[in-house]
Amino acid sequence: MVKVLFVCLGNICRSPMAEAIMRDLIEKEDLSKNISVDSAGTGSWHIGEPPHKGTLKKLEEYDVNTKGLIARQLSSKDFDEYDYIVGMDESNIRNISKITGQSNDPKIIRLLDLTDAKKDVPDPYYTGDFQETYDLISEGCQVLLERIKVNM
Ligand code: 4NP
Repeated sequence: MVKVLFVCLGNICRSPMAEAIMRDLIEKEDLSKNISVDSAGTGSWHIGEPPHKGTLKKLEEYDVNTKGLIARQLSSKDFDEYDYIVGMDESNIRNISKITGQSNDPKIIRLLDLTDAKKDVPDPYYTGDFQETYDLISEGCQVLLERIKVNM
């Protein structure tokens, strides 16, 4: 089983969106037995909460299942548990390194570094633009899934 963990700051906007979109892609390709996904935040403010309503609304608009999305905090144990630890922006990558004590490990990836864009996924908690977030995460997840399939 290949295990993927998406990480953002609060685990209520971007990383649960990535978890749901990736799960949807995996189910459509009939790969649920081969690849699992989860998400976590580097911060603790929203532990136990469902996603932001902007994230839920956007996922529902695209018919992406939102079940089971509950915020949790990243822990140092996650580094050993997961094969891909995928941050949304540069500050997530720095925080992942602080929490796990691991830096420059190839399993820690910024999502859009896999695409031509090579940039941060802007935080819709501050921008309010959940469509931009959806489009970028969707593109990143498609490229990530292709990468995983090649290495499977
Ligand atoms: P996320 O967005 O990292 O995409 O989940 C945020 C959600 C909450 C906060 C910051 C960013 N916050 O400061 O509570």
